[in-house]
Amino acid sequence: MPIRFLTAGESHGPELNIIVDGIPAGLELRAEDINKDLKRRQCGYGRGGRMKIEKDQVIFTGGVRNGKALGGPISVRIINNDYKNWSDVMSPERIDANKYESKFVSKARPGHADLSGAIKYNHEDIRNVLERSSARETTSRVVAGAICKIYLQQLGIEILSYVLRIGKVGIDIEQLSSDYKDLFLKAESSEVRCPDLKASEDMKKAIDEARSRGDTVGGLTQVVALGLPVGIGSYTHWDKRLNGKIAGVLMSVHTVKSVEIGLGKKVSELYGSEVHDQIYIDPKWDSKKLRYMRKTNNAGGIEGGMSNGQPIVCTVATKPIPTLIKPLHSVDIKEKTDTQAHFERSDICVVPAAGVVLEAMLAYVLADLIAEKFGGDSIVELKNNYDNYLELCYQR
Ligand SMILES: Cc1cc2nc3c(=O)[nH]c(=O)nc-3n(C[C@H](O)[C@H](O)[C@H](O)COP(=O)(O)O)c2cc1C
Repeated sequence: MPIRFLTAGESHGPELNIIVDGIPAGLELRAEDINKDLKRRQCGYGRGGRMKIEKDQVIFTGGVRNGKALGGPISVRIINNDYKNWSDVMSPERIDANKYESKFVSKARPGHADLSGAIKYNHEDIRNVLERSSARETTSRVVAGAICKIYLQQLGIEILSYVLRIGKVGIDIEQLSSDYKDLFLKAESSEVRCPDLKASEDMKKAIDEARSRGDTVGGLTQVVALGLPVGIGSYTHWDKRLNGKIAGVLMSVHTVKSVEIGLGKKVSELYGSEVHDQIYIDPKWDSKKLRYMRKTNNAGGIEGGMSNGQPIVCTVATKPIPTLIKPLHSVDIKEKTDTQAHFERSDICVVPAAGVVLEAMLAYVLADLIAEKFGGDSIVELKNNYDNYLELCYQR
């Protein structure tokens, strides 16, 4: 892992901390570029009250000087504004038992880490689990991902996402456009990050309806990488396969229940002749691109565990979030009784926000693989190595 990142911090703790290691010297990093993605993660129809309190902004505390990466670890802080409302309960210092226990949680929420986490870590207070298992942590991933996106941009690689479904309201993407960038730009002006503006209104209604029933809704998101060259990942060993790497990082995002690449599970019902992307000599070939082309992208840009030069297309299903205004049946682990689940201020739908987190994780894994293949302690060295490889590819 030439690029690594670690995150720390609790949902209602004083702050979130992120360390990203392996970014080459000379990469231009501006807080405002990272803050744009943080804002995108905070938006979206169906978010709860917490996002009105927070105004996530990065504070660089190491590894960046005069707007450029120095080549060492980059450290970042994000202040949790809500901490001022929780400073008694969440203080790292030993505090008065009454204050500490004022937010004690003993009723596990089904669908969360609550019950298994309390048993595994031997916690009496489920708050000790939920504060770290909360998707507030995805804020930190968006910071690391935004840095990786800037790294990839240097090589002409872009990461984007848009929503295909919320609850029962879905769109047929093939009817809309085959231009991923166009879909993304349209989605950016939708409150649910869906490229179909009419369907966006129906999706908002689906969220309102869930809210009025005290319920939550999940959805489907497409995450795409454009401009990735042929040959990232490898067929030579199981743990080098690009599809496995991508599926792993996308599955690690809270609420994600499935990751499909290209046609995904639809391949199970089609003939081979309908699935595989036939190969042609590109009549428009010049020395600045691959000589070979496809007319379809059913493989989602990956064959034999490697990128094939086509867009990487992943479709990701996210479950409805587990904190319900009308709580589900559960147990009280202190009283050892049946009860209703704990309710804490919560979102109704996080599908639009999850897309931004998925972008971050895709950016991270691709940046890591590129750093592994092309090295480079400085951006200049990285670009030289990368361009040499592209030249070799274009001659084949
Ligand atoms: C951006 C984002 C925001 C989330 N916000 C909430 C929330 O407000 N309330 C909630 O119960 N779950 C929320 N979740 C989902 C939970 O974090 C997640 O379902 C839970 O940690 C269980 O993990 P699992 O879904 O991987 O099983 C959110 C997820 C994401 C990606």
